[in-house]
Amino acid sequence: MLSRCRGLWRAAVLFIAFTCTYLVVHAAPTDVPSAASFYVSSLPGLRQDPSHPLHIYAGQLPSDPNAASVPSTAITAHLFFVLTKARRVADKERLIFWFNGGPGCSSFDGLMMEIGPWRMDKDGNLNVTNGGWEEYTNVVYVDQPAGTGYSYTSTDRYVHELSDASQQVVHFMRWFYRVFPEYKEMDTYLAGESYAGQYIPYFADAILSSDLNIPFKGVAIGNGWIDGRRQYPSFLDYAVKHGLVEANSEDYKRSKDITDQCMAELDKITDREPINVPICERVMMAVLEGKEKDGKCVNVYDVRLTDTVPSCGLNWPADLEYVTPYLGRQDVVQSLHATAHSQSWVECRGRVGQELTNHNSQSSITLLPKVVERIPVLLFAGDQDFICNYVGVEGLIQAMEWGGEKGLGKVQTQSWTVNNQPAGTWVSSRNLTYAKIFNASHMVGYDAPHVAHDMMLRFMGVNFSSLVEGTAGIPSSVGEEKKPELGEAKEVETGAPQSGKSPEQDKAMWEAYYNAGSAALVLVLILAAIALFFWCRVRRRRGLRLPMLNTGFGSNNHGNTNGSGSMEESIPLTQTDGEELDDFRLKRNGGNGKGKERAVDPLTPVMFSVGEDEEDEEKSPRR
Ligand SMILES: *[C@@H]1O[C@H](CO)[C@@H](O)[C@H](O)[C@H]1NC(C)=O
Ligand SMILES: *[C@@H]1O[C@H](CO)[C@@H](O)[C@H](O)[C@H]1NC(C)=O
Ligand SMILES: *[C@@H]1O[C@H](CO)[C@@H](O)[C@H](O)[C@H]1NC(C)=O
Ligand SMILES: *[C@@H]1O[C@H](CO)[C@@H](O)[C@H](O)[C@H]1NC(C)=O
Repeated sequence: MLSRCRGLWRAAVLFIAFTCTYLVVHAAPTDVPSAASFYVSSLPGLRQDPSHPLHIYAGQLPSDPNAASVPSTAITAHLFFVLTKARRVADKERLIFWFNGGPGCSSFDGLMMEIGPWRMDKDGNLNVTNGGWEEYTNVVYVDQPAGTGYSYTSTDRYVHELSDASQQVVHFMRWFYRVFPEYKEMDTYLAGESYAGQYIPYFADAILSSDLNIPFKGVAIGNGWIDGRRQYPSFLDYAVKHGLVEANSEDYKRSKDITDQCMAELDKITDREPINVPICERVMMAVLEGKEKDGKCVNVYDVRLTDTVPSCGLNWPADLEYVTPYLGRQDVVQSLHATAHSQSWVECRGRVGQELTNHNSQSSITLLPKVVERIPVLLFAGDQDFICNYVGVEGLIQAMEWGGEKGLGKVQTQSWTVNNQPAGTWVSSRNLTYAKIFNASHMVGYDAPHVAHDMMLRFMGVNFSSLVEGTAGIPSSVGEEKKPELGEAKEVETGAPQSGKSPEQDKAMWEAYYNAGSAALVLVLILAAIALFFWCRVRRRRGLRLPMLNTGFGSNNHGNTNGSGSMEESIPLTQTDGEELDDFRLKRNGGNGKGKERAVDPLTPVMFSVGEDEEDEEKSPRR
């Protein structure tokens, strides 16, 4: 009796252990995390528009194409993204990847302050507003290169070349499409601003020559840093044109002198197109020096504004004051699945910019013509920006040769209105569109969200007649051509699901069923084991410990909490934190500083001194 009971017991324990192991292994996707595991079910302070609620996915994805060949202990690149799904039905589904500049500045700039679904107030409310690009389009905000925003990698793996940054993005996209395969069929665009004028032509070129095989339809670059040779001399030209420097004044002569030194240096460089030239990095501030008064200087991102010396724009926009602490909150970090990044969020991480030395990378102006010859390109510029001003953008377009011709040719620039107000000018020739936006700063979407949105919808060729509602109904025109009115069809707003569940929701539902089923089965098995145990115990009159029961249950728990692909996200980074800070302090004097939008070469004398600690890291230069 006793031995029979023991045998029965052993068999039962074995069976339970095997079943539990099987379920744990199969319940937790080991390769590709589920889309559901990235779903942001709630975000602190978010006030939804109940009729068109936001659906957000966020998290970190592997982005190091060489991860397989490095020791498993290495902390490899994981880029962070926020996907905001289109809130309204459009004529077709589209996808935009958005990149802010720096280098090293987080795309939360775009999400929280420019083209995203909300604006933040001082109480931490995220009020969903109209004019965000997610109204008709799916938008993915990407923190890159690794180390930027909530993305991470060990500091010794920060990228040094734009080509490496491109490979990170392409690898990120591979993972993105594994998790969200339905997006692979959608018309896809890249958009961004400032130093993204370097990133985007590189990324576009890398995507076009990759195995991604996506319907890649165009790129849009706002106030981009693309071509130093044309953009460095634009500072003085812009300043004179906009009354910041009086022609032939002392101020002018001094500014002209340093501009000439820069140009002489550029003339010596004949074998390549440099991204930044140290002596030239002094031009921008030198030109504005005459406007400095009583501790105030011109805001280099919006010449209508002033800021305190030596920030000159780094404290702008005011929203940053609320955005930064918000993104540092633990509940926010958790909601966004960014916990694997243990440092606090900073708008721009200087170290990322410092490491991106680009010793072997030429300026993106060498790639842009190739890109325009393959896909449509939109260059846009807010006319109040100084750091990447429209005069320089126009200069680079004039000098650029593509499709066998130079510049835009004889096409007429047209006036562009939005909501019956002058919005800017619009000109398009041979796949290149140039839009100048009136009364807008470096962050066009910040000042003119509806204009920026109208611009992007036009660029993407949205069929307005097929839309039925929303801000696309705001009238606009380019030249004589008026935007067609929204279609007649009325949207059925019953609240009932119209098109069924999205594939992610389906997947999530099945996973939930599966997990529920597994849990029930495990519970039944455990109860059976307990019953069997007591049945045996009654007969043996001697205690028996139940190690298997505990470990079996424990490992199941473990599997559940660590499952759903979160293993990727739970890598502790604490060990690199101190290191990163120390290195930062060591290097700060020779450092790049960092840019919201435009950064300086690491070898460059810093335009803005970089502070002592991470707090001050936010207050250094940015492009
Ligand atoms: C956001 O909405 C709340 C509640 O309606 C309101 O109190 C707050 O002022 C709004 N904030 C902004 C910036 O509109
Ligand atoms: C414009 O792009 C198309 C592909 O979309 C290409 O076939 C054409 O050659 C391009 N035109 C020019 C002038 O580069
Ligand atoms: C934009 O700026 C121009 C002058 O630069 C001004 O005449 C116009 O009224 C402004 N428009 C708006 C909508 O602020
Ligand atoms: C735009 O949409 C309207 C209404 O659905 C349709 O009749 C028209 O053919 C569409 N135009 C294009 C160019 O697809």
